[in-house]
Amino acid sequence: RPRVLSGIQPTSDSYHLGNYIGAVRQWVALQDEFEPFFFIADQHAITVEHDPKALRERTLRAAAQLLAAGVDPERSAIFVQSHLPEHSQLAWVMECLTGFGEARRMTQFKDKSAKGGEGASSVGLFAYPMLMAADILLYRPQYVPVGEDQRQHLELTRDLAQRFNHRFKKTFRLPEPYILKETAKIYDLQLPQNKMSKTGSTPGGIIELLDDPKVSAKKIRSAVTDSETEVRFDEEAKPGVSNLLTIYSALTERSIDDLEKAYAGKGYGDFKGDLADVVVEFVTPFRNRTLELLEDRAEIDAVLERGAERARAVATRTLADVYDRVGFLPAR
Ligand code: TYM
Repeated sequence: RPRVLSGIQPTSDSYHLGNYIGAVRQWVALQDEFEPFFFIADQHAITVEHDPKALRERTLRAAAQLLAAGVDPERSAIFVQSHLPEHSQLAWVMECLTGFGEARRMTQFKDKSAKGGEGASSVGLFAYPMLMAADILLYRPQYVPVGEDQRQHLELTRDLAQRFNHRFKKTFRLPEPYILKETAKIYDLQLPQNKMSKTGSTPGGIIELLDDPKVSAKKIRSAVTDSETEVRFDEEAKPGVSNLLTIYSALTERSIDDLEKAYAGKGYGDFKGDLADVVVEFVTPFRNRTLELLEDRAEIDAVLERGAERARAVATRTLADVYDRVGFLPAR
């Protein structure tokens, strides 16, 4: 079976609806058809200032949330990036293949370093995309299911794979982004021009999956819409309503067309009220399941151990090929 791989950072206590609808939902759906590798990118999480205790806790919570979302440890290797030194080892090789200017052009680096001033950003933040390329290429996946904000990193990954294959010997499969057009970008509920994000969103604009469901319902009911009354998908003219339609459709599997018809002649109040119920019905069991899983730390550790074993079997082989092809003398 062809492989699928993706990662998620443990940078907050709870994932948000954008992470779920944009990425994790696809991970769950792809598990049957592909051989899946899903990991928690704790090394990426230290590219900005962080609290060590919180990082450890969030890594566990990340694992619990992936399980609660339906990532199945029987079918999927679920693991922690730092448990496999091969990621850092391949990252170094990727860094040596990347031009300085090429790395500088990465928009995420530009955005994040602009916030604190370039002096405040780490070399790790600069090297972030090359670590991500290593994460991916180690497993030779066909697809990488992510949201739109990761597209540029995937393009760099493909460039680096091609460069390596060309300069040395064909080693890497060129991974394809798996980005569903409809759900590639979930927007902030209060500022629907901006993506929903753990760092950039206003408190009212982000649905945190582990928040009290009542709070999430309230945020949906007070989401920004527009001065019309019609429930219609039009991203240009009606970004707020369109975002709510996307969320509604993703969580219920009803088409946008169908939803537009169902709400013809009704106001935004009915629409948002029903969507609030849909969100509550989704987050309530998700949250209960996550909290339940977190009661059994040993079970989470066991899942991550098994996942790391499966990942290691693949990663060591790729890295051995790479070390051979770049000309490193084998250790004895
Ligand atoms: P991260 O942790 O920021 O986000 C995890 C996933 O959620 C998606 N996402 C969204 N999708 C739609 N709408 C949104 N508002 C939204 N916000 C976040 C992201 O696109 C992502 O798919 N660099 C990655 C982690 C990573 C990785 C990898 C991913 C490290 N190595 C290798 C794939 C392959 C990141 O920071 O994602």
